[in-house]
Amino acid sequence: MTSQPRQNDLTETSPVDPKGGSTDPKSGSTQPAAELGGADPSGSRGANEKSKSGSMVDTIIGRVVVDQGLATSEEVQQCLEQARAAIADQNNLSLGDLLVANEYITRRQLRRLREAAEAERSGQQIPGFKLMGVLGQGAMAKVYKARQLSLDRIVAIKVLPRKFTQSVQFVERFYAEGRAAAQLNHPNIVQAYDVGKAGEYHYFVMEYVDGRTVYDDIVKHKRYSENDALEIVIQIAEALQHAHDRGLIHRDVKPKNLMLTKEGVAKLADMGLARAMSDHEAAIEEKGKAFGTPYYISPEQVRGEINITPAADIYSLGATLYHMVVGSVPFDGKNPSDVMHKHLKAELVPPDHVNPRLSAGISEVIEMMMAKDPKKRYPNCKDLLVDLRAVRAKQDPPIAHKDIAGAALASIASAERQAVGSIATDQSSSANDRGVATWLFITMCVLLVLSVAVNIVLVSR
Ligand SMILES: Nc1ncnc2c1ncn2[C@@H]1O[C@H](COP(=O)(O)OP(=O)(O)OP(=O)(O)O)[C@@H](O)[C@H]1O
Ligand SMILES: [Mg+2]
Repeated sequence: MTSQPRQNDLTETSPVDPKGGSTDPKSGSTQPAAELGGADPSGSRGANEKSKSGSMVDTIIGRVVVDQGLATSEEVQQCLEQARAAIADQNNLSLGDLLVANEYITRRQLRRLREAAEAERSGQQIPGFKLMGVLGQGAMAKVYKARQLSLDRIVAIKVLPRKFTQSVQFVERFYAEGRAAAQLNHPNIVQAYDVGKAGEYHYFVMEYVDGRTVYDDIVKHKRYSENDALEIVIQIAEALQHAHDRGLIHRDVKPKNLMLTKEGVAKLADMGLARAMSDHEAAIEEKGKAFGTPYYISPEQVRGEINITPAADIYSLGATLYHMVVGSVPFDGKNPSDVMHKHLKAELVPPDHVNPRLSAGISEVIEMMMAKDPKKRYPNCKDLLVDLRAVRAKQDPPIAHKDIAGAALASIASAERQAVGSIATDQSSSANDRGVATWLFITMCVLLVLSVAVNIVLVSR
């Protein structure tokens, strides 16, 4: 048994590039993207370029503030003059700062305005799209909300960092998987629309989900009720079945990739991206930095096996369901390699041992999903769904239960076989004993007959 996982431990392995833009922990809002693909504070962008983009942002902010009636054009003009005077005095105050200082807008409004202005500025870099703001930042990329001008629809665009484009292998894989994902069409899969390149950036256009991720929910509420978790995981298992039947394996099923719409529809995100992201060269590029999260990774992926099957997704979905209903990850550790080692070797603490309110059924299903040996897991999502739906209907999961009952029967049978074996051994040893006795008896008889015969001979003399 392992030590119990830390409760409410959501410290995924530093998913935010410490150098890139990040989420403001206080407001929860995202900081503006300094440029498409993320800020580059390394100094590679010239100071001139920085001030140019700063003044562009100021211009957009000035226009929007007037458009929205937050300040008059005279007031904006007055702030601009103050900004110029500040620069002359070696004080670097932007128009936005001065609008706040003069109480025309609040800090919060400024943050939103900056975000929109940055997006508008960088939006010029993807033809056909108008970027509206940053939706989030993962370990590898930044996701923007955008309007696709041709179809007049809102989409989400994941823009990859420039360094990825240096690997030809990575780019090829990114396009191949992106196109394969675009072939899928399922209500529980975030629809992939397109992959493309604008300037030096590669991007992935997908359905925009107006909602939240399962990760956000866990951060907020620690865990889900068994029923709520099952409702979500059943939809995701249906999505995976659809993808697996068409030869696609997700490879990165985790709470951050499960999105929930406001209507409660669960959608699997990043289908088709993980394969490219796990590209070896890209991984080397990322050396020293956390590469994804290892809390939900299957043992065969930890081993770096090439032939990854749908069973890997079933394991990761099992680990995700574990976290959802238990409130802590199945295996925790000092560092990513410690966690990965536990996926390989450590015994899983059954979910209902950590959270006794869980049914035995859901525990059996999670344990089967998370079997270390892929062959001992559900062979496919169709079977998994049979069990998940049974548990939702408050019944025993027929497959996992049979498996456990089967294992119990098998162990009874093997105990019986051993007992029978030992009886058989006893019988054979007693047969041996009987053989020895028979020989002894015959020898005694022969000796007796001989002694009688000798006596008769002696008497007859
Ligand atoms: N299709 C989408 N619609 C709306 N928001 C999205 C969409 N895809 C991603 N997001 C938001 O962008 C964030 C970043 O997504 P991304 O896939 O880059 O990273 P992640 O999955 O959160 O984490 P990691 O990079 O560690 O895998 C998500 O957490 C989510 O909030
Ligand atoms: Mg994601």
